Amino acid sequence: MVNINENYLKLKAGYLFPEITKRVNTFLDSNPKNELIKLGIGDVTEPLPEACIKAMMNAVEDMGCRQKFKGYGPEQGYSWLREKIAYHDFQLRGCDIDSSEIFISDGSKCDTGNILDIFGKNNKIAITDPVYPVYVDTNVMSGNTGYINAENRYDDLIYLPIKEENNFVAQIPDIKVDLIYLCFPNNPTGAVATKDYLKSWVDYARFNNSIILFDAAYEAFITDESLPHSIYEIEGAKDCAIEFRSFSKNAGFTGTRCAFTVVPKTLMANTANNSKIKIWDMWNRRQSTKFNGVSYIIQRGAEAVYSEEGKKQVDCLVRFYLENAKIIREQLGTTKLNQVYGGIHSPYIWLKTPGGMSSWEFFDELLQKVNIVGTPGSGFGSSGEGYFRISAFNSRENIEKAMKRIKKYYQI
Ligand code: MLT
Repeated sequence: MVNINENYLKLKAGYLFPEITKRVNTFLDSNPKNELIKLGIGDVTEPLPEACIKAMMNAVEDMGCRQKFKGYGPEQGYSWLREKIAYHDFQLRGCDIDSSEIFISDGSKCDTGNILDIFGKNNKIAITDPVYPVYVDTNVMSGNTGYINAENRYDDLIYLPIKEENNFVAQIPDIKVDLIYLCFPNNPTGAVATKDYLKSWVDYARFNNSIILFDAAYEAFITDESLPHSIYEIEGAKDCAIEFRSFSKNAGFTGTRCAFTVVPKTLMANTANNSKIKIWDMWNRRQSTKFNGVSYIIQRGAEAVYSEEGKKQVDCLVRFYLENAKIIREQLGTTKLNQVYGGIHSPYIWLKTPGGMSSWEFFDELLQKVNIVGTPGSGFGSSGEGYFRISAFNSRENIEKAMKRIKKYYQI
């Protein structure tokens, strides 16, 4: 018999979102006519920007034409897309990022997991709690953790609790860690980071020779220009941070799949014999071996995000979801669910469950009595217990319908 990767056996039974889907399907099996409104997984609902559609259609035609046809593309992505990203997302914001430091991929979920391929086994790894569960589960799969303990946490991972009293940002640890996952605007709490706060992490990481894995998949939702969109807006971050970005939430590419990871060429790590190695070389080697790039058609679609038309249309989409978030925040504020956070620079609203209910108890009540699906805070980590996440990714009609139901059931 073949041996398996035993680390998978350490994982909690199901990944959070499929677990929710399972419970929802069980409910729908016995209530087939129910008109559930899904505000659980952060999946977009609005069509792609027109500029992206046109670009992809043109690209389809290119593929049907001998002179323009494309076979395998560069594993790192086409230079025309990498250059646009480097210029619009970084250089225009004063960040010294070169197009060669951008690696196009099919998603930040994949990249935040795949990045572990290039790191060794004995790193001290810190995550916030609550946290996007992919960071935890991929570390479990890679053998970087022990077993799950009585507190529902994996041994050997360092958990940095994020709490209301700290505005849902983690405190800098007083011990040395090697890898730190940060996500801003935060999934799930919707919290944002100031430049000063990120600077304290960059200072910490440089002092300790740590690497920050910075997930900025929701940066487009930042509405206050004084807040940083990228960790590279902080001086010194090029020496200590990798950044993950995505077209999923700004341009609606969740089903289309395109993202990118920034690996500065100045970022170094140690080998076992104490020589230094460029993380860029490692990631480039990993990608060119295990990945054949994102399809030409999709990369052309992503490129259109940076056209004048595309920028306006993406902005419109983001504003649409932010308006949904505002409606949710305001309406919840008039109900028993009035302890709400996030939803200002983020599509996620983080709320305290009413009457001390556990996150899953509230999930069940909301599902069965109000016919709304959300995400239990405890699914993002034990410090998320007693909280609940509502996603603003839906049609206006559904958001308004959902708020009407909530106002009725949870009226004060
Ligand atoms: C979420 O709901 O947290 C996200 O949609 C999941 C993801 O982006 O993979």
